[in-house]
Amino acid sequence: MKQSVDFQDFIDEVIAKNDIVDLISQYTTLKRVGSRYQALCPLHNDKKTPSFSVSPDKQLFHCFGCGAGGTVIHFVMAKENLDFMEAVKLLAERSGIAIPDFRSSAEKDKANAIHEKKKRMYQMNAEAARFFFSKLTESGGEVALSYLRGRGLSNSTIKSFGIGFAPDTWTSLVDFMKTKGYTEAELVEGGLAKKRENGTAYDVFRGRVMFPIIDLRGNVIAFGGRTLVDNQAKYLNSPETLVYKKKENLFAMNIAKNSKAGQFLLMEGYMDVVSLHQNGFDNAVASLGTAFTPEQAEVLKRYADKAVLCYDADEAGQKATDRAGEILRAADIKTRVLTISDAKDPDEYINTKGKEMFEHMVTSAESFIEYKIGKIEKQYNLDDTVEKIEFVEQIAKILANIKNDVEREIYIKKIARKTDISPESIKTHVANIALKARRGDALKERRVEKREFEARTGGRQDLEKMRVFNAEKLMLNLISERDVFLEVSERLAPEDFSEGLHRRLAEIIFDCHKRDEKINVLKVLAQFPEEEAGCVSEILSDDKNVDNRKEAAKLPLKIIKAYQMKQEEKDLAEGGDTEKLQEIMNRLKKDKK
Ligand code: GTP
Ligand code: MN
Repeated sequence: MKQSVDFQDFIDEVIAKNDIVDLISQYTTLKRVGSRYQALCPLHNDKKTPSFSVSPDKQLFHCFGCGAGGTVIHFVMAKENLDFMEAVKLLAERSGIAIPDFRSSAEKDKANAIHEKKKRMYQMNAEAARFFFSKLTESGGEVALSYLRGRGLSNSTIKSFGIGFAPDTWTSLVDFMKTKGYTEAELVEGGLAKKRENGTAYDVFRGRVMFPIIDLRGNVIAFGGRTLVDNQAKYLNSPETLVYKKKENLFAMNIAKNSKAGQFLLMEGYMDVVSLHQNGFDNAVASLGTAFTPEQAEVLKRYADKAVLCYDADEAGQKATDRAGEILRAADIKTRVLTISDAKDPDEYINTKGKEMFEHMVTSAESFIEYKIGKIEKQYNLDDTVEKIEFVEQIAKILANIKNDVEREIYIKKIARKTDISPESIKTHVANIALKARRGDALKERRVEKREFEARTGGRQDLEKMRVFNAEKLMLNLISERDVFLEVSERLAPEDFSEGLHRRLAEIIFDCHKRDEKINVLKVLAQFPEEEAGCVSEILSDDKNVDNRKEAAKLPLKIIKAYQMKQEEKDLAEGGDTEKLQEIMNRLKKDKK
């Protein structure tokens, strides 16, 4: 993609004003190791080995685990799931740089069209929410209102959540929305209506209590509708639309994000959340009829780093707790588990036992690890030696996964007390498991290397070729420094690199040195498409652990030259050009000395 000089200047400024160490520190804890930083990768589920590396000098990052890499822009793209320009904008805003409008008028038109369409969908949803709300107090709405009353909701709760009623008719919403200027097509696209075979539209939500789902900015983006009768699905939720992404939104997050509690209460149901809010727990949220997602964890984390899982007491609730707990821990959210007893869910609990009891349950909730240990403990009889060993075995696997030393120590002590085994021997056992897991990771890294080779060369793993491939990568890294380049430049040319990306990168590096310019990795990266940024920044990253770079260049040089000679000989043997063959033989001899 060719872009104007202005544009490149702007990008350079954005990169210069957003220090990569500073930015990435907001997502993961960076540990200084020599001239660079190491961390657990914030872009993939990196539990044990710090595979993520940041170079402050080059302003680049790279992860060996997931292969991501590049500048602050690439990082934000990956982390926040943004496209290139969105990431640039976010960084420009972060550092107070004014954003010039570089888009072509066609691009502007397209972006404006999407923006307008979203705006209209928000307005349409808000209009529908007002319609449902008004129906609650009109004739026909009595069943719904008395249902909500029966469940203990006050007028002010109903009002602050905007709970409403969809009449049990086929087209009351469609008819109303048409008078407000919305087309059937718009209603269908917004998930509020469906088309019949004959092309006419009818309401999706009929005879249901309606819960508006509101995003962080206060826009109504979807609805959950609860039935009032027994013979149909209990809840009907809006489909995904232009403005509604299920996995990124949480019910009541628009209110809970302003809570002063410092933690979120995560529940399963709409009614649980509404009840809890009515009782003063303004930090309750629910994932929307689906399993809790990593994206939702990221949203929570923007506002607090603690959460309490308050799922239903049934088996489904327990399973959901296990899964959500792992997701929260992976997102580095301190997680506790509140186990409901004597009620089926938080709503029933608070209505029968009162808010003080619930408050007590929240404050005394056990950590997610304790919860997991407790579950395993139930399966074993600790008076039986064999079972006790198996128990410790299971627990050690969990403890080996805990990153925080202090936290791990605390649990080791607890288990030691519980089993009457010395903390030291449990500790050793846990350390052994962790070590084995790290070895497994090293193996995985080698597998990643192999996959990269196969993906980029399109070939199956071939030991010789892979050796050359890796030698080329190391060589490119080494010659990005001028003194190493000068050492090898007489004997090496970009054409000597066998793989396409390597050759293109070599050409750029050679060019720079020939023009006496220092290699600017950011400028180099700008010459590659986004999907190659990870490879290029990995190659150029300065975490190669080599002491004497000139010395280190000798082996890859030999490998590259030998392979190249072999290829040429093969070509010639097939072509029969003896003169050329002689020349190569001479060169070969020269190289040997
Ligand atoms: P009440 O029975 O009114 O107390 O509902 P609840 O809010 O306690 O919900 P429940 O515990 O039964 O279910 C938890 C959540 O799962 C609900 O809030 C919905 O988001 C979702 N859910 C439950 N039943 C259905 C269903 O039939 N279809 C869909 N799509 N989601 C459902
Ligand atoms: Mn319930």
